[in-house]
Amino acid sequence: MPWPRVGGLRTLELGVPGPLRKRLTDLVVHGHKRATAGLLAEYAVDREEVERVGERLVLVGNDDESLALVEVTRVDVVPFGQVRWEFADSEDEGFADVDDWRASHRWFWERHTVGPVREHTGDPNWSLTSETDVVCVWFRVVHGFETLAIHAGQEPDPTTGAVVPPIYATSTYAQDGIGGLRAGYEYSRTANPTRTALEECLASLEDGARGLAFASGMAAEDTLLRTVLSPGDHVVIPDDAYGGTYRLVSNVVERWGVSWTPAHVSDPESVRSALRPETKVVWVETPTNPLLGVADIATLAGMAHDTAALLVVDNTFATPYLQQPLSLGADVVVHSTTKYCGGHSDVVGGALVVSDNGLGDELAYHQNAIGAVAGPFDAWLVLRGLRTLGVRMDRHCDNAERVVALLQAHRRVTEVFYPGLPGHRGHEVAAKQMRRFGGMVSFRVDGGEAAAVEVCNRARLFTLGESLGGVESLIEHPGRMTHASATGSPLEVPADLVRLSVGIESVDDLLSDLGQALSA
Ligand SMILES: Cc1ncc(COP(=O)(O)O)c(C=O)c1O
Repeated sequence: MPWPRVGGLRTLELGVPGPLRKRLTDLVVHGHKRATAGLLAEYAVDREEVERVGERLVLVGNDDESLALVEVTRVDVVPFGQVRWEFADSEDEGFADVDDWRASHRWFWERHTVGPVREHTGDPNWSLTSETDVVCVWFRVVHGFETLAIHAGQEPDPTTGAVVPPIYATSTYAQDGIGGLRAGYEYSRTANPTRTALEECLASLEDGARGLAFASGMAAEDTLLRTVLSPGDHVVIPDDAYGGTYRLVSNVVERWGVSWTPAHVSDPESVRSALRPETKVVWVETPTNPLLGVADIATLAGMAHDTAALLVVDNTFATPYLQQPLSLGADVVVHSTTKYCGGHSDVVGGALVVSDNGLGDELAYHQNAIGAVAGPFDAWLVLRGLRTLGVRMDRHCDNAERVVALLQAHRRVTEVFYPGLPGHRGHEVAAKQMRRFGGMVSFRVDGGEAAAVEVCNRARLFTLGESLGGVESLIEHPGRMTHASATGSPLEVPADLVRLSVGIESVDDLLSDLGQALSA
C-alpha cells in the first residue's frame, strides 16, 4: 500500500541544527501540505545513517522533536572532493577531507556537486566505497490521506485567516498595470483561486503533480480525449464502461476519425489483443460500472506503455482513498467528482490528475481552450466533500460488506458482484491495489428483468435514482437507466442486474429495506 503506516516506523536521527533544520521545519509546518511534488531535502549523513530508498522514516530533530514523516526518494553518493560546500556564514569554505569537515561541526545548507553523482539503488549489501564519499539522502515529506484531504491546497486565507478557502465568485481580476497579475489570476476560465484549491487537493490525494477540475466527469473525459487524440488514433475501452464514456467514444469521438475497440479489462490478454500500433489510449475503469470488474492497473500500464499508449484510469468508484492509480503506473486519473469526491449528491463535477507536468500543461491548455471548467461554487462543494472522503469511504465499505452478506444469503439473488468477495474474479488484484473494496454492489435477481425492476421499485430507503457515491443509498436498474445507451452494443449489461450505491445510513435500516424489497 502506498500509504504510510505509523506502526513500525524507523527513526532516523538527523540532528540537524541551523538553516537546514529550519528548512525542514518550514517544509512541515508551513505551506507544504501537499507532499506530492518536489518536496526534497538533502542532508549528508554518516555511513551508519544510510537508509534504503523507499523506506518510510520519522525525521527527528536534535531535541527529539518529530519533524516529519518522510520517504527516502533517492540516495546519492558523491566523492568528497567533488562537492563544493556553501555555508550559511561563510561561502565556499573548503575542507581538506572528511575528518576536517567532521571536526568543524559545521553544517551545510546547500550542496553543489561539480562531479558525477552515483545513485544508490537500495541494494541492502551496498556500502560506501571509500571513507571520503559523502552520502546525500533525499527525502519527500509524507502526510496521511486525511491530513492532505483537509489541508492540501487549503492554506488559511492570507487576508482574513479564513480556514476554509473562500468562494471566489469573480470572472476577472484587477491588474496592477498591464500584465501585472496578482498571484497569477487573470480570468476565471483560465484559473480561479477556489478551483486552484480543489485542483491542488486532488493532485495531492492522487499523488499526482497536477490536478484539473471540470464542470462534469464527461467534460473532463472530453477534454482529455481531445487533448491526447488525433484523427487516425485508436482507443481501447472497457466492455462494461460507464455508459456515458461509451457514448462519448462511440458517438462523438468516433466521428472525428478515432476508432475504438471494447476489451474485457479484467483480462489483460483481452486488452493485449485489442491493442494496435495506432492505439493512443487504454481506458480502464476499476472497479467497473456496473459489474465491478477489476483491472490490474500495474500490468495494464506496462502493456499500454509498450505500445506508447497512455493508461487512463477512471477512479470514480474507488476514489484516491481506496486506490491510487498513478502510483501503480497509470498516466491519467479521471473522476466524476459528482460521486464520492463530492459525496453529498449536491454537485456535478469532474477531474483529471496526472503525474507528468508536460501532459499537465497540455491538459491545462485544453481546459482553458475548451472551457468546460468547474465554477467556483461547484469547486468549493467538491473540496468540502474531499475533506471527509476518508471517513465516508470507510463507512461506505463497512455498510457494503454487510449488504453483500445479506444478498449472498438471499434465495432470490443469483449472483453478487463485489470485489471484496474471495470468489469474485478480480478479488486478488483488488486486494493488491485497493485499501478496501468500496461502496458499490451489484446483483442479479432470479426472475429476469421484471424481477429486477420490481426490486428497484419496492425499495424505500434505497432511493431509486441514477448516480452514486453520495451519503444516501441509491438503487437502480442499469439496463434501463445508467446503461440504457449501451443496449444492443457489446457493452450491454444483463437485464436482471440491480446496482446499489450503499450509503452511510444506519446499516440495520439498509438491511431491512433490502430485505423487504426482495421479499416478494
Ligand atoms: C464511472 C463514471 N465515470 C464518469 C462518469 C461521468 O461523470 P459525470 O456524470 O459527472 O459527467 C460517471 C457518471 O455516472 C461514472 O459513473
